[in-house]
Amino acid sequence: MNKAVITIDGPAGAGKSTVSKAVAAELNYLYLDTGALYRALAYKAMQNKIDIHNREEVASFCRQVQVQLKNKGDKMQVIVDGEDPGDKIRNEKVGLAASAISAYPAVREKLLALQRQAGAGGGIVAEGRDMGTVVFPDARFKFFLDAGVEERIKRRATELAHKNKKADTGAIARDMKARDKNDASRDLAPLAAAEDALVIDSTSLNVSQVVELILKRIREAML
Ligand code: DC
Repeated sequence: MNKAVITIDGPAGAGKSTVSKAVAAELNYLYLDTGALYRALAYKAMQNKIDIHNREEVASFCRQVQVQLKNKGDKMQVIVDGEDPGDKIRNEKVGLAASAISAYPAVREKLLALQRQAGAGGGIVAEGRDMGTVVFPDARFKFFLDAGVEERIKRRATELAHKNKKADTGAIARDMKARDKNDASRDLAPLAAAEDALVIDSTSLNVSQVVELILKRIREAML
């Protein structure tokens, strides 16, 4: 059986990363976090003092910055201008900046081929906003993972608390709602469930229940 492409899309805080990693580990597939590509680009742009709200400036930055994806164990590592930014991209400031620049055609075009290349041989779980709709429209399995906004805010606060980071629920709510709005309302590749995606509302499900639902669907089809 050929190894499939599995796409998992959904809004911020729906649990996509945790679920995608678990599904990839279970199937022995690679895990591709496409949000990390947008985050790495936004991080580098900020470092280079690019005005991320200026589409032309960002487009010209895109023409000279180098972004690569490398296999690293069971996941793919993002390298931007020769550096792996690691955890420096994992904060809401970078998340919001990533969301802002992800609306620009120059940014989406720059990252599209990289993502497709990574999934070309199958055997990958790709998570993001437009995996099932734009990047891998022919993916064999598509999922859209959603959860109510209050639950997503709660999950993000718990995640920060576990990392011993300050969790200001008001700020998390404000940032998450801003990102939801940006990501869903942009013209290019907006956050949306593909027509052939299985939509999972995880508001009252835990991680293993969601993972089981996804694996069941895949295993049944692969029998
Ligand atoms: O999944 P994340 O929170 O790491 O993504 C950060 C931002 O990147 C998100 O708010 C919008 C953008 N993004 C995108 O436009 N398309 C993707 N496939 C993944 C992320």
